[in-house]
Amino acid sequence: TKVLVLNGPNLGRLGRRQPEIYGTTTYADLVERCRSWGTGLGLDVETRQTNHEGELVDWLNAAADERVPVVLNAAAWTHYSYAVYDACAQLEAPLVEVHLSDPETRPEVWRHTSVVTPHAAAVVTGKGVDGYREALEFVAATVAG
Ligand code: DQA
Repeated sequence: TKVLVLNGPNLGRLGRRQPEIYGTTTYADLVERCRSWGTGLGLDVETRQTNHEGELVDWLNAAADERVPVVLNAAAWTHYSYAVYDACAQLEAPLVEVHLSDPETRPEVWRHTSVVTPHAAAVVTGKGVDGYREALEFVAATVAG
């Protein structure tokens, strides 16, 4: 089963970006780990990152057309993008929302809302990079079961 792991703005700097919040694992490491976790779960995982909102919407629209499961860390767009909300609403295969940190317990009140959660079959927060593994395990269990 093909699975897309889609990452939004600023996540390309993972490992260098505020490591006290997001950890020291690099984005390249995340890509590699998702690939190998997927292989272990029988999933064909492709991981992407973009700083351009329209590109994410294009990827989500293609995932809707192709009925591909999506693991999504929409980063800051999570909190305010109604274009991402509408794109998530069209998905047919399972959508799992993931965040490295736990936005709901962070001090900025604007992080406490998510446009992705209403469409997500599962939400994984606050587990760092390992949260992506949990998200992929959820997808594997859902598409197999
Ligand atoms: C994030 C949390 C968001 O609030 C933030 O804007 C990000 C990363 C996370 O993975 O913890 O860019 O999605």
